[in-house]
Amino acid sequence: MTASNKQTWSAGVITLFPNMFPGLLAESLAGKALAAGIWSLSVTDLRDFGVGKHRKVDDPPFGGGAGMVLRGDVMAAAVAATAAQLPQNVRRIYLSPRGKPLNQNLVADLAESTGVLLVCGRYEGLDERAITASKLEEISIGDYVLSGGEVAAQVLLDAVIRLLPEVIGNAESHRHDSFADGLLEHPHYTHPRDLAGDAVPEVLISGDHARIEAWRRKQAEALTRARRPDLLEMQKARDKSKN
Ligand code: ADE
Repeated sequence: MTASNKQTWSAGVITLFPNMFPGLLAESLAGKALAAGIWSLSVTDLRDFGVGKHRKVDDPPFGGGAGMVLRGDVMAAAVAATAAQLPQNVRRIYLSPRGKPLNQNLVADLAESTGVLLVCGRYEGLDERAITASKLEEISIGDYVLSGGEVAAQVLLDAVIRLLPEVIGNAESHRHDSFADGLLEHPHYTHPRDLAGDAVPEVLISGDHARIEAWRRKQAEALTRARRPDLLEMQKARDKSKN
């Protein structure tokens, strides 16, 4: 592929804390890929769309209750402006603990798309009408509550970026990723062969690739059964629905 027909995967982020970006994504694999133009990042400061002299972005919830709610008019304007800088029809995602859980399948789908628009919330949340009017898909990175969507957005982006073509440059390196085949990843070993009396499993130095592959598969299955039996149940349900 020549430089001219390389496609850049585009991320747009809406946040009240633009200085938090690229954050972790400026370093290592994601940082190098950003510098190489494999992905791009445009950050929208929600405050720029605030109303009035004080650029207000939030108000108390109708019906009462604690905290503040991000205004729907402010967010809708920020989404429209950010979407205009991104490829058409990118998925619009609102990071929220109420959302559909992020998993490796969803990450892989996003990596195959042209990019994402990510909305980071703060305070008690976002006016529901902005979610519907801007067609935001709600995604959660886990069953806990963060103080805002920025860390969740970086988690999502990190997981996607490492799958982009040319980032690792070797599809084989993802073949055994945890979750890639519905299982947790097998254990890894390197030098020294004996670590304080704990020796590398003999099979791994046998040179017998078929045996090694079978051993790794068995280890992955045993680990998954012990730690994440829910993954095996999900796999069973998927296999059943295929038949
Ligand atoms: N914002 C706050 N908590 C979150 C979570 N668990 N996932 C995604 N976004 C969030």
